[in-house]
Amino acid sequence: MEIKSAKFIISNTQVEKCPDTKFNEYAFIGRSNVGKSSLINMLTGRQSLAMTSSTPGKTLLINHFLINDNWYLVDLPGYGFAKRSIKERVKIQGIIEDYLLKRQQLANVFVLIDIRIEPQANDLSFMEWLGEHQIPFSIVFTKTDKLKAGQQKIKLQVYFDRLKESWSELPPYFVTSAEKRLGRKELLDYIDKVNNNLI
Ligand code: GTP
Ligand code: MG
Repeated sequence: MEIKSAKFIISNTQVEKCPDTKFNEYAFIGRSNVGKSSLINMLTGRQSLAMTSSTPGKTLLINHFLINDNWYLVDLPGYGFAKRSIKERVKIQGIIEDYLLKRQQLANVFVLIDIRIEPQANDLSFMEWLGEHQIPFSIVFTKTDKLKAGQQKIKLQVYFDRLKESWSELPPYFVTSAEKRLGRKELLDYIDKVNNNLI
């Protein structure tokens, strides 16, 4: 799929205030600093569309980006950021859960995982929560430029072995690098298929 246009539409903390359109949307979620905003910029080819930062906790709101005037990418705040106060973490979790449970237009959630780190309890329980609520999701492994091919393979195997402990079927997955622009075509083709009801 070709990206002809990408526009920032709105940031907010309430699902009720998200755009009142019927377009499919794709949410990017994962731990703080995993590379959600960078991936959105890589996919759209617009380097400063979503705000990125080496300081975790940059994205605090639900951010809608309209793509090709007929679908949305949604940048969500990261979870599991230890330096946030408990009150703030609970608030952000509430915003995310409310959005995920109520947003009818949500076509798929991309759960981002830094390929370098061991499977983390909060990522695994978040995916189980999505499964319990029948919210479709895929895994996007990020920052693969930081590992050699052989190490990547080992990390993926460890991750899949861990997932198999609780899932009978593995979700679709993508191996990406925002830095090296890897995985772009695969992700956009997947979105295109969902948009055209082929998945
Ligand atoms: P929050 O909004 O804070 O939750 O973070 P985020 O998940 O949106 O992460 P963001 O895209 O802001 O990226 C965090 C840091 O990781 C930045 O310093 C990025 O440059 C870096 N980064 C993101 N993707 C990649 C990648 O594919 N490769 C490398 N090497 N660095 C990356
Ligand atoms: Mg961000």
